[in-house]
Amino acid sequence: MWEYTDKVMDHFLNPRNVGVIEDADGKGDVGSLACGDALTLTFKLDENGRIADAKFKTFGCASAVASSSVLTEIIKGLTLEEAANVTNKDIAEKLGGLPDQKMHCSVMGQEALEAAIQNYYDKTKTTAPEKEGKVVCTCFGITDTEIRKVVEDNKLNSVEQVTNYCKAGGGCGRCKGDIEKILSEVRGDWIDRAKKKEQPPKRKKLTNIQKIRLVQETISDQIRPALRADGGDIDLIDVEGNKVIVAFRGMCAKCKMADLTMRDVVQAKLREFVSEDLVVEEEKDGEN
Ligand code: FES
Repeated sequence: MWEYTDKVMDHFLNPRNVGVIEDADGKGDVGSLACGDALTLTFKLDENGRIADAKFKTFGCASAVASSSVLTEIIKGLTLEEAANVTNKDIAEKLGGLPDQKMHCSVMGQEALEAAIQNYYDKTKTTAPEKEGKVVCTCFGITDTEIRKVVEDNKLNSVEQVTNYCKAGGGCGRCKGDIEKILSEVRGDWIDRAKKKEQPPKRKKLTNIQKIRLVQETISDQIRPALRADGGDIDLIDVEGNKVIVAFRGMCAKCKMADLTMRDVVQAKLREFVSEDLVVEEEKDGEN
């Protein structure tokens, strides 16, 4: 039993826009009854060139019905150019997701839409606005821009997945090498973006006044409470450029580990919160 979302079940049990528009402006047929899945999508445009009505007829499973039903809702009100950008991912997302094994139903919806739009251009002897990018898969007329988008949007990792999602590579197979190259380029981009994300944001250069204020705040909020917990304390004596002069008080002043505390606690916190260039020195002659 497949795990279906409530939206899939709703569109399956109460499909919207079932039927065929007789005087349709565009009609797309995909699949075949012999193979088990078939879908016919028809649409009618209004005087502004927007899809005023869309209907579907399908022979298929719950996902096929739900995908087709939600597709008719998505495209109503769109221009043909906008509708041409609707992807199977849009269909699946609108349904709250589909099981992986059923993603092909959303692809069938996208194919029927493409076929119906093409049917409109064929009937009106017009041509679709030129596609962005260079055609990579000549069997299906799919460009590098479209492949890159489907890979990015669906986080695809293999040529087979690309074929499942947008058909590229599913014919003669000659374009598979180019698809592989696009996959590596996109993966490279992902890695670069991930690396950039890992880098800590650069700190703004501080003025002297800002630096002294930040040193004071770091001492009172981050350093002093820890030292006081062990009976010690610390005072800020001066800040000269990147040199911060402090004096230990109480237990800290007598502690044999004072040098370590100075480096691993005081200097480390000041470098973390103020500036990596700071060097902390102890005023040895200060009052204890
Ligand atoms: S060119 Fe892509 S499958 Fe033939």
